[in-house]
Amino acid sequence: MPARPHDGGAERLRLGLIGAGWIAQTHVRSISESSAAVVCAVADVEPARARALAGRLGAQAYSSWTQMLDQSSGRLDAVLVCTPPQHHREPTVAALERGIPVYLEKPIARTQEDADAIVAAAERTGVRCAIGYQWHALAAAARIRGELSGQRLGLLVGRSIGPTTSRPWLLHRAQSGGQLLERASHHLDLQRMIAGRASTVSAHPGWVPLADRERPDGDIEDVISVELAYDGGARGAIHIAWLRSEIPGMYDMTIAASEALLTLTLDPQFTLSGVSRGHRIQQREDRPPAIAAMDLFLESLHSPDHPRRLCAPRDAAATLAVALACERSLRSGCPVEVGQPGRAETQS
Ligand SMILES: NC(=O)c1ccc[n+]([C@@H]2O[C@H](COP(=O)([O-])OP(=O)(O)OC[C@H]3O[C@@H](n4cnc5c(N)ncnc54)[C@H](O)[C@@H]3O)[C@@H](O)[C@H]2O)c1
Repeated sequence: MPARPHDGGAERLRLGLIGAGWIAQTHVRSISESSAAVVCAVADVEPARARALAGRLGAQAYSSWTQMLDQSSGRLDAVLVCTPPQHHREPTVAALERGIPVYLEKPIARTQEDADAIVAAAERTGVRCAIGYQWHALAAAARIRGELSGQRLGLLVGRSIGPTTSRPWLLHRAQSGGQLLERASHHLDLQRMIAGRASTVSAHPGWVPLADRERPDGDIEDVISVELAYDGGARGAIHIAWLRSEIPGMYDMTIAASEALLTLTLDPQFTLSGVSRGHRIQQREDRPPAIAAMDLFLESLHSPDHPRRLCAPRDAAATLAVALACERSLRSGCPVEVGQPGRAETQS
């Protein structure tokens, strides 16, 4: 383990990465632009991946996260859990129980049982745990909530139509939850932030192959259309399509309320535009939310309170409950009532 790094006198936080794939490398790029932290340890079940990333960073490579936590205990200020969803629970709970804060990638887990175990560990230990639904960090999300306060909310429409990076586990529903957990859950989380609790969902798959992946690899759909009924009476819709990599994507959410029509353009330019209470709104995010969320997480390690603009485990578990209800609807073809985390949902 390298000596504790300094940056012009200020001690930098020491981070460990668990999983050295696509999102871990994205986090590494944002961390390397900040002087707040440095990656000291990288663990991956594929040792060559751990070695390649650790080598670039001057970090220690491990072929198992247990080894990494055992050997660097007391020397890591936080870990980033960047494994596929089925492998979120064990490293997250183990790190929290050792008193190590965790930035856990979304979705919180593949199953509600795993999500509940993560929530319980975070709340029992009181150790900081944030989930990588980075749109919580958008200044625009807070602005939307402010603008809509006191208005009647009618409709939310989210679109995530474009390419996505294919990874082997993503293609298998049992491992990934398919487009619902991987892509739609960002929109489910964002709509929950604005519209509150969804009571009933209905989800429909489309099987026309649009992306450039090889068939018959995997069992996930190419297109999903989701409808939601919110407790306050609003309706939601989310449309997802996986397109060929050369087609530019379209990622946004439109909200209709009694005195507002707003559109939030997502990825890569995060811009809120429209009209609310008679005034025009045009607000561009000054930083990508993935970077803002990571910075907030690192800053939060110096503070006792969970920042409002970071997704807490209990919140992400509630988003997972909606996504799992959608998954049941997708399979049965029927609307499904959303259960509370920890309780079974029912088919309408
Ligand atoms: N926040 C976002 O916008 C965003 C974007 C992409 C991915 N993600 C999430 O990040 C997570 C990882 O996705 P990815 O795209 O990086 O996948 P990936 O397949 O590129 O990388 C996952 C890595 O984890 C390793 N791994 C698997 N099991 C492990 C274990 N038990 N211990 C240690 N390493 C293990 C794999 O070998 C692989 O290197 C997923 O939960 C995904 O949903 C989030």
